[in-house]
Amino acid sequence: MSREGAGVATVPVTEAPIKLTVNGEKYELSVKSNWTLQYVLHDKLGFTSIKDMCTGKGECGACTVIMEGRPILSCMALAIECGGKTIETVEGIARANHPLIEAYVKHHCMQCGYCTPGFVATAKALLDKNSKPTADDVKEALAGNLCRCGTYPQHVIAVLEAASKV
Ligand code: FES
Ligand code: FES
Repeated sequence: MSREGAGVATVPVTEAPIKLTVNGEKYELSVKSNWTLQYVLHDKLGFTSIKDMCTGKGECGACTVIMEGRPILSCMALAIECGGKTIETVEGIARANHPLIEAYVKHHCMQCGYCTPGFVATAKALLDKNSKPTADDVKEALAGNLCRCGTYPQHVIAVLEAASKV
């Protein structure tokens, strides 16, 4: 039996225009109602830092972006509901030469690097809110970011060093 024939009600896909501000630039595009913010930012707008490591299940943090000052999982947000929002990605954080970038490189916080943009976005949101975090604050903030290469101890060192330079 096909999925359609299994008695599951389907919600029709609609499309609507939205406006986003990403890293200070304004974008206007038409999005389908089932597109995630991760898909729109990565595939439609070209912000390729935003990874999908858990196939959009909300489990890894690799898709983290900062929206209205808070870190969010972009794979768990529907783009159509993000109209008018202001978003920051690692591309913007790097362009601004935030101390996190140098600290992440200096302390070898990445092996394959796939998880790194999500960690940096989460760390940036932490430092924006708390410029003098403790190691426990950093661990708590980064608790939702997973790294399959096991780089965890390096992130705390790098974020604390970046905090001393913010
Ligand atoms: S891709 Fe969003 S949490 Fe894993
Ligand atoms: S550096 Fe490879 S998943 Fe984190």
